[in-house]
Amino acid sequence: MVQMNANFQKLPGSYLFSEIARRVSAYTEANPDKKLIKLGIGDVTLPLPAAVTAAMHAAVDEMATAGGFHGYGPEQGYAFLRDAIARQDYQDRGVSIQPDEIFISDGAKSDCGNIVDLFGLDNKVAVCDPVYPVYVDTNAMAGRAGDFNEATGRWSNLVYMPCVAENGFLPELPREDVDMIYLCFPNNPTGAAATKEQLLPWVEYANRTGAVLLYDSAYETFITTPGVPHTIYEIPGAETCAIEFRSFSKTAGFTGTRCAYTVVPKALVRQGLSLNAMWNRRQCTKFNGVPYVVQRGAAAIYTPEGRAQVQANLAVYQENARVIREGLAAAGLTVSGGVDSPYVWAQTPNGMGSWAFFDRLLKEANVVTTPGAGFGPSGEGYIRLTGFGEREATRQAVERIRGVL
Ligand code: MLT
Repeated sequence: MVQMNANFQKLPGSYLFSEIARRVSAYTEANPDKKLIKLGIGDVTLPLPAAVTAAMHAAVDEMATAGGFHGYGPEQGYAFLRDAIARQDYQDRGVSIQPDEIFISDGAKSDCGNIVDLFGLDNKVAVCDPVYPVYVDTNAMAGRAGDFNEATGRWSNLVYMPCVAENGFLPELPREDVDMIYLCFPNNPTGAAATKEQLLPWVEYANRTGAVLLYDSAYETFITTPGVPHTIYEIPGAETCAIEFRSFSKTAGFTGTRCAYTVVPKALVRQGLSLNAMWNRRQCTKFNGVPYVVQRGAAAIYTPEGRAQVQANLAVYQENARVIREGLAAAGLTVSGGVDSPYVWAQTPNGMGSWAFFDRLLKEANVVTTPGAGFGPSGEGYIRLTGFGEREATRQAVERIRGVL
């Protein structure tokens, strides 16, 4: 009889956003007349920038010609996209990342999940709490997280780094030794951003101990505060200890189009093994690359018109985040985030539980949020709202929440 991966049995219930979708569709089914406003999952609402769709149309036409047809592409991504990324996202910032250190993929979520292939099962994994659930669940599936404790909401083998109001939602270096450290800035879910000074100790720690930083920078384009680094490689020494995940989902509206990239520097070596070579080996074996048409669309983001159009879309989401932040604060909630991030992190009123407040807003305001507890025990007592909604709907949602409060 086949043996199954028993780790799946240890996973609690369903994936966070699937559980939210389940509750929302149950409510909609029972109340078909209600018009819900969704500020839950961080999914964009504005259409793709015109420069992107023009490039994709042109690529589709190319594909219809004998000379312009593309079959299997390079697993690592086409040079035209890797070169543009290396130059504009890194070298123009004074960071010497090279194209062969960049791997194009179909999403930061997949890469964050797949990266665990590179690491041994006995590694100690440190995660922020609250945290994007993918880091936790993928380590649990691999068998690195131990057992889940329903009472504490924690996995026995993970090291949790609480990110709470008292520490400005920034993790502190763990007291025990850890090997794989997940950091996400600007942070999902709290919206907190980290400065160079705040990131430096992590780079020093990883280089000193031989740990690896898994740095999720999917929300980088939302940074507006001067001095907040746009990549971990702005921190001296990061190229010998950090892998960075980036995505076009939130920057250019690619949530449904799928394109992202991961940076694995050649200088990152552990136990004599090049992580760049290992990731290349892994991708060549398990991945056949992102469609040519999609990569052409992504490359258009790096043209002057593409950049301007992306900025115009971002401005809408940033304004939405401001409306949420200021509206909820005016209604008496304690809020943070929403400045260098599309996410606003709001404390529930009167110590109400996250899921209870989520349900209340769903039923009384017809607004979908994300319960903070879904991101880990330290998220209890919070909800997350996203700035990715439509402009008018976002204003309405804030008004409705204020009405309920
Ligand atoms: C979120 O809402 O946290 C994200 O949209 C989920 C994701 O990017 O996978």
